[in-house]
Amino acid sequence: SRKFFVGGNWKMNGSKKIADELLGHISRGPLDPNVEILIGVPAIYLDFVKEQAPCTVHVSAQNCFKTEKGAFTGEISPSMLKDIGVDWVILGHSERRQIFQETDLLIAEKINHALETGLSVVACIGETLEEREAGQTEAVVAKQIKAIKEKISNWQNVVIAYEPVWAIGTGKTASPQQAQEVHKVLRKWLTDEVSETVAQNTRIIYGGSVTASNCKELAKEVDIDGFLVGGASLKPEFIDIINANQ
Ligand code: 13P
Repeated sequence: SRKFFVGGNWKMNGSKKIADELLGHISRGPLDPNVEILIGVPAIYLDFVKEQAPCTVHVSAQNCFKTEKGAFTGEISPSMLKDIGVDWVILGHSERRQIFQETDLLIAEKINHALETGLSVVACIGETLEEREAGQTEAVVAKQIKAIKEKISNWQNVVIAYEPVWAIGTGKTASPQQAQEVHKVLRKWLTDEVSETVAQNTRIIYGGSVTASNCKELAKEVDIDGFLVGGASLKPEFIDIINANQ
């Protein structure tokens, strides 16, 4: 069975002081031992956070480039992350897609290179409001996941995050039924296009305005294997989201 997975994505937020406070909440817990926990922190604080985070918590980057090294000013590579002891990266976040114009192809290449370097990846997909209203949700997420499938050969170290863009930072959470419907489509897609084993073993987590008050209902859905949390991961309630199943 799939271990429940809860990630906090700090995005471009925080400071050393805030990181200390957030790590304080996490260290005090209590943390459900049946949950895998990740915090995605700004690259500049990775080392600082890694030093203090409980060793059971994955400290993750929020982006990295698709090659090992070279003339790519401003970028960081998966091997640099490994070098400082960081084993996870979030890739394909909708903010990377929309604000920084990352394409399905670039994201797939980044995911592949990160996996080949030995990182584990939270791979994000999701439709915009316009796409949902046009009835294209399934086609959009299928296209996004297909692009990934075409570049990678092993799904073992991949967690898929379904994050509908209209639900991110808006306070408009997908209803448990809306989220479940898409998660089910994605699992079916994995069954048909990859394998039954990969479909059964891969965590598909939901992101978009997850809070302490809506997480329990979402967590009950059979194909929702956890959460990727933005705003609420910067608050003490992140602990309640980690413990959604209790
Ligand atoms: P919010 O939880 O703030 O809506 O953000 C979700 C998200 O983008 C996590 O990656």
